[in-house]
Amino acid sequence: MSDKPIIFSGIQPTGCSTLGNYLGALKNWVDLQNDYNCIFSVVDLHSITVRQDATALRKRCMDFLTQYLACGIDGEENIVFFQSHVSAHAELSWILNCFAYMGELNRMTQFKDKSAKHADNINAGLYTYPVLMAADILLYQTDLVPVGIDQKQHLELCRDIAIRFNGIYGDVFKIPEGYIPKEAARIMSLQDPTSKMSKSDPNVNGFISILDDPDTIKRKFKRAVTDSEGEIAFRDGKDGINNLLNIYSAVTGQSVEQSVNEFAGLGYGVLKERVAEAVIEELRPMQERYADLTKNKDYINKIYTEGAKRAGYMAAKTLRKVHRKLGYVDR
Ligand code: TYM
Repeated sequence: MSDKPIIFSGIQPTGCSTLGNYLGALKNWVDLQNDYNCIFSVVDLHSITVRQDATALRKRCMDFLTQYLACGIDGEENIVFFQSHVSAHAELSWILNCFAYMGELNRMTQFKDKSAKHADNINAGLYTYPVLMAADILLYQTDLVPVGIDQKQHLELCRDIAIRFNGIYGDVFKIPEGYIPKEAARIMSLQDPTSKMSKSDPNVNGFISILDDPDTIKRKFKRAVTDSEGEIAFRDGKDGINNLLNIYSAVTGQSVEQSVNEFAGLGYGVLKERVAEAVIEELRPMQERYADLTKNKDYINKIYTEGAKRAGYMAAKTLRKVHRKLGYVDR
């Protein structure tokens, strides 16, 4: 790897990738990849905090990795791999568990939300999930972590753990910074614009899958919940319209203010149609590449095998340093 700064990020292979994942994370990964050494993982270890069907998970893991490449991530220049292929993630996670406090983990809002949703399966993995995420990031001496705003709290915990560890053992981990986009930090559900667009939403009309066909995208935006005021403006209380304006701005690359000006005096129907068109055009090239890539299993296999080898090499270096600092005997 060259001496450019390092990016690490990942997506859990659960449900299907949504427009939220795309605008909050994937699109920025693609934009940043030339200026950084990038490591992008399909974080399959994280996904089993919720019960998964093995056959479906295996397929989904492949689909997600293929989507990374279809979005335009160069899998040869960057490292693209499955988290479970590099055992250092689980190893460092255990060690960091011993440096994370229960009081900190108790405060994680994602843990509170997920344990409310899965009250019958509040497993220890769900609780220590943010520590595994910290291990993901710290293993690679990461400089920048491009994520949506829902991951900000986890990222802050990661920094706190790293600072604590460094405070005891010296300069072991790089302290990472977050990269959170302005317009697309939190794309909301189309059916309930007060909650996050989520890939595990049982109501498929709440999210756009990045593989949805144009008619489905149009239909979902047409049904998007707005308000009865009839005025296209960006302000508190107009969650549905704010969300549509955010999506439009993130896709077109213009500011929300410019989008508001563009739609001045027009109706909600026009806004929904134009947002749908913009999203369809944004996703089209990715969907075409995805269709091609799924036919090329050997290439995908080569990317993730090589990716795990390179990631494993980097991760082992950090883990070795951690082991020495802790006082473990050299292997
Ligand atoms: P996950 O799989 O829930 O989401 C993947 C990425 O998509 C972003 N995102 C959104 N952004 C905007 N609006 C939304 N509605 C939306 N929904 C999701 C997330 O912020 C994230 O960037 N814990 C992580 C995965 C992870 C990770 C890591 C990320 C594991 N290890 C290390 C970065 C670095 C998660 O559950 O993301």
